[in-house]
Amino acid sequence: MIPLEEHKVEEFLKEFKLSHPKLKEIMKLLDKEMSKGLKGDAGTAADVKMYPTFVGPLPQQSDKEEFLVLELNLPRVELALVRLQDHNASVIESENYTPPTGVQLDTLERLSGFIAMCIFKFTKKRKLAGKEWPLALIFPFPCQHEGPDRACLVKLTKEVTCKDVQGQDIHELIRGAINKSKKNSSKIQIVAIVNDNVSTLASVADSNPDCLIGLIVDGGLNACYLENRTRISTKGPQDGKAMIINTELGALGENGCLNFCRTDNDKELDEYSSRPGSQILEKMVSGMYLGEIVRLVLEGLTRKNLMFRSVSRACNLFHRGCFNTECVMGIESDNEEPHQNTKKILDHLAVKDYTDEDVKNVRRVCSIICERAACLTAASLATLINHVNLSPVTVVVDGYLYQRHPRFQVMMLNKTRELVNPELEFHLVRPQLERSIGAARIAAAALRSGNSSTD
Ligand code: GLC
Repeated sequence: MIPLEEHKVEEFLKEFKLSHPKLKEIMKLLDKEMSKGLKGDAGTAADVKMYPTFVGPLPQQSDKEEFLVLELNLPRVELALVRLQDHNASVIESENYTPPTGVQLDTLERLSGFIAMCIFKFTKKRKLAGKEWPLALIFPFPCQHEGPDRACLVKLTKEVTCKDVQGQDIHELIRGAINKSKKNSSKIQIVAIVNDNVSTLASVADSNPDCLIGLIVDGGLNACYLENRTRISTKGPQDGKAMIINTELGALGENGCLNFCRTDNDKELDEYSSRPGSQILEKMVSGMYLGEIVRLVLEGLTRKNLMFRSVSRACNLFHRGCFNTECVMGIESDNEEPHQNTKKILDHLAVKDYTDEDVKNVRRVCSIICERAACLTAASLATLINHVNLSPVTVVVDGYLYQRHPRFQVMMLNKTRELVNPELEFHLVRPQLERSIGAARIAAAALRSGNSSTD
């Protein structure tokens, strides 16, 4: 017999479990939104915008070329000097920069100013100035492309806040900031602006021609894939047979279609996020939000008097944002009795006087929330694999939640197998090279094809 209390906790958690039919329903909804996006309803009706990236299958490398690659991993900016040489690509040097304390990157002007300063510091330190440098920018937000190096920002995601971003031309902004910073004596030519997911896919394409899909599960959730040109009716270049589509599938649910499987906790999290109503699927899955969902569930169970009965309301558990995905991953990795790490995390949150039963419940909540995230990711990936409909197909999967969570990979793989059409064979691989190398390859291809506008 299950004790009554445990039974009540399980009842509370029931709505976080997604049955096979529910996941199939989510796949149907995603497929429908993807088709709408591909048909060109991008500006209006489609939840999943399916942005054409102007990146096709990448040519084999032949020339020796060096590129600067700048990745935004806000608030961090990462710069790398990448060398492409036949099939040997390498990052020669790299450095990360964070804004000085007190400096808020809260406008695009400030952000681009900071970017220009990072480029200046990087090139000066390495005596790269005085030469012309092609630059690839990894920009991990939804953008509408006009060319490989031309991108207008649609919105910011992952709780990054900046004023007046919609429709801003990223190329112009950054070029303007570089020109303004008189210190920059090297000539920087922005030749490619790429999504993080797209650059990861490009880093694998050279060594694995079956790799047609890229999936990323980190602070955000997103996927991209190589689409047949005949299936894309949105604006884009007319040459070539295929092009990578940046799905931005984390936005699924913005039209309310996921409400049937969202809980009150999901709705509360959304309400207090920096952009309510945006990125609904992403908010149920990604590392930016997972910790907060767990915290809200723990708070709910405590309010219902089902756990932490002797814990004071003043403890951190009742404060938004104090329980992050690192805590969840720490607890999920702590399998051995007496769960010292889980206890340490609770101690750190100043949760006092908890019982062994509380520890068990905390672990149960983390496990259920992570399982749901893995199932939703699997449903998204299975939809894409079925859509691509080629067998065998390889998927490159990146992102800290996927790489570092102890069970996420296995849970996601098993569920994807259950959901993919049985006749399709698929393999998941991890990226072997840095995504800056993928971005440099895209930049090299844009330069060679002359598709990149000159500054
Ligand atoms: C968010 C962004 C998307 C990015 C993903 C992973 O979903 O909108 O562009 O690829 O996060 O960083």
